Amino acid sequence: MPDVLKLALVGCGAIARFHLDGIQACGGKIRVTAAVDPDRGKAERVASETGAQVFSSLAEAVAGGDFDAVDLMVPHDLHEAVAVKAFQAGKHVLLEKPMAPTLEACDRILASAKAAGTVFMVAENAQYWPEVVKAKELIDAGAIGEILTARATYAAEFDAYWFKEKNAWRYEKGRTGGGITIDGGSHWIRPLRMWMGEIEEVVGVLDHPLKQMEGESLVRALFRFRSGKIATFDAMMVTTVLGPDASWRVVGTKGEIVIEGGFGGGIKLFDVANRGGKLMAEPQGYGKSFGPELDDFAEAVLRGKPLEAGPDYALGELRTALAIYRSAESRQWEKVWG
Ligand SMILES: NC(=O)c1ccc[n+]([C@@H]2O[C@H](COP(=O)([O-])OP(=O)(O)OC[C@H]3O[C@@H](n4cnc5c(N)ncnc54)[C@H](O)[C@@H]3O)[C@@H](O)[C@H]2O)c1
Repeated sequence: MPDVLKLALVGCGAIARFHLDGIQACGGKIRVTAAVDPDRGKAERVASETGAQVFSSLAEAVAGGDFDAVDLMVPHDLHEAVAVKAFQAGKHVLLEKPMAPTLEACDRILASAKAAGTVFMVAENAQYWPEVVKAKELIDAGAIGEILTARATYAAEFDAYWFKEKNAWRYEKGRTGGGITIDGGSHWIRPLRMWMGEIEEVVGVLDHPLKQMEGESLVRALFRFRSGKIATFDAMMVTTVLGPDASWRVVGTKGEIVIEGGFGGGIKLFDVANRGGKLMAEPQGYGKSFGPELDDFAEAVLRGKPLEAGPDYALGELRTALAIYRSAESRQWEKVWG
């Protein structure tokens, strides 16, 4: 087995910057040998940083490039086509969330992965978000006793970095599969699953305050877990200036864990010994999740290490989003796993 993973970045847009930083954090374990984007200027920017060969399509890269794995960071409606193409070429695949906008497309991707027999990972960086991981350690160590409930809140002022007007795909329901729930909301749902187990059913309502977004830009939902516990999930993107809010609050029988809102990090424990809250780790934040994410993928390919979360597990956020969408229509609780 080689010591270095030769990787093609397919889609060199907004999230590629974070993946590149994550690759750098892996300390030479991953070499970017191909940069693929129909927008050649974007691929060239990646190449100037990495020395990669530039290609306009995955087909061209497969024909003329030198890589064992692909990191697919393209609009949701293209996930199936590029993933299947990569599997058919025998490549290992890291695919940005969600696996695809529909479960039918996911089934086809999973079948293609199985036929290829290569490593397949869905990139859900919240799995590696330092504060989320720290919260899991604290919960598992009994720091807050038994979990009673939790709240997840993704409340963001409209952010032109992710939602550039020219990147119209992110506003189009037909291309993303929905709105904020299926998209950025996944990063707030994964931690709840890590801490509280599998979600049994959901009930939710949607609204559309961000006029330019066709799908929902506001969701309020309740989750009931298989354990019987309940949690709330709120997400919204608005043009309003917002006050501070926690990203997650996890209430247990002995205390509460609070993770600061936004992307900057900060985790505090509140209990009888720390009524004012004790900072449990130096704030690291969302950006620091990509190093361990890319490392997990590289270790799986290079050394056969089991992934932190496999592709079947990664369907959970998508299934939760789709169940919320059904619930908004039916006005009923909807099962997540059918
Ligand atoms: N983990 C996170 O926090 C996070 C954040 C943002 C986006 N994402 C995910 O990353 C993916 C990409 O989102 P983004 O914000 O980077 O979008 P983006 O629009 O900024 O970038 C997508 C890039 O893909 C390119 N592209 C389009 N068709 C292509 C093709 N056939 N082959 C190769 N490249 C192609 C586009 O030219 C563009 O440069 C999505 O799945 C999104 O949900 C994840």
